[in-house]
Amino acid sequence: MSKLTRSVWAEVTLDAIAYNVRQFRAFVGPHCELMAVVKANGYGHGALETAYTMIANGTNWLAVALPEEAVRLRRGGITAPILVLGAVGADELDVCVAADLVVTVFEPHIAKLLSQAAVAQQKLAKVHIKVDTGMGRLGLLPKDFTNLVELVRELPGLEIQGVFTHFAQADQEDLAYTRWQWARFQSVLENLRIRGISIPYVHAANTAATLFFPASHLDLVRVGLGIYGMYPDARRPLHLKPALNLKTKVAFVKRVPAGSAVSYDSTYVTEKETSLAVLPIGYADGLSRGLSNRGQVLINGTLCPMVGNITMDHTLVDLGDLPASIGDEVILLGTDGIHEIHAHDWAKLLGTINYEITCTLSSRIERVYR
Ligand SMILES: Cc1ncc(COP(=O)(O)O)c(C=O)c1O
Repeated sequence: MSKLTRSVWAEVTLDAIAYNVRQFRAFVGPHCELMAVVKANGYGHGALETAYTMIANGTNWLAVALPEEAVRLRRGGITAPILVLGAVGADELDVCVAADLVVTVFEPHIAKLLSQAAVAQQKLAKVHIKVDTGMGRLGLLPKDFTNLVELVRELPGLEIQGVFTHFAQADQEDLAYTRWQWARFQSVLENLRIRGISIPYVHAANTAATLFFPASHLDLVRVGLGIYGMYPDARRPLHLKPALNLKTKVAFVKRVPAGSAVSYDSTYVTEKETSLAVLPIGYADGLSRGLSNRGQVLINGTLCPMVGNITMDHTLVDLGDLPASIGDEVILLGTDGIHEIHAHDWAKLLGTINYEITCTLSSRIERVYR
């Protein structure tokens, strides 16, 4: 049977990923390593497919949220070190050891079970211990940190390779909270120094901290968003190229009279005679219904409004008098060289962040690499 190709696709430009990696490499300098965060299928861009380009251009480490994401990378031939950032369950530890994953540890029970799994497999499992300096999510509080480090150091089969924390507000122009977290992290590190404990990798910075708080670069930076060419806010201290273009083709065009109602609930009614284009993409693809009557698309060099309610599989566009035919290419995210539509434009309309836009493009959309 010949391959069916759906007329909705996300073009991922590997050259843009390569460029962004090189930009970050140059920005952090030769003494800082680069960890590319490829969780959630590489923020929707394809983890395995982009990982090879990242590594070829100077990425030293990968990070994922789940062991299964890391295992998929290993099965795809990735041999680079992979840090699992999320909480690993007791039943996932054997797999982590077998796949040489670096596990994030922040409580004694899992540390002990991981030690047993490593001993059983006659391996040395590397761990990074996470301290919560103010994110309020994973990680143990600074007061408990040194005790856990002391305990893990005594467990057979484990090596503490790293300690890290995560910033909650590094994308804010006011870095007061970030500096406060930084100070708490410093005192944790000072406690280790006092005890003569030296850890090879100390890290803290995500994309925002890498860009806006260079003091936090330390031994490595954990960059997700920026590698894909997106920014945490409106500031642009580093030039990056967006790597994902979302495209489709016009499925149908029809001329309708003034007063024609469009889509479920008839939330849009044409004011004059106009042409409507039907696009074969809907909220099941990750085109949020919240963009109904708000978003725009690029057709034949012109920005045209999405009109009426976005449906599960279809979206309507008011072309006005713009000529367009079935099969014409439509850009939902990306550029035609003149106009640009970015994930942050959608995010602004939806009251969310650009991360959510690319992460929620569904698996129904084929990723095409070029
Ligand atoms: C612990 C941790 N580090 C780094 C990152 C990467 O963040 P960003 O995509 O903002 O660079 C994330 C992403 O959420 C994270 O959870």
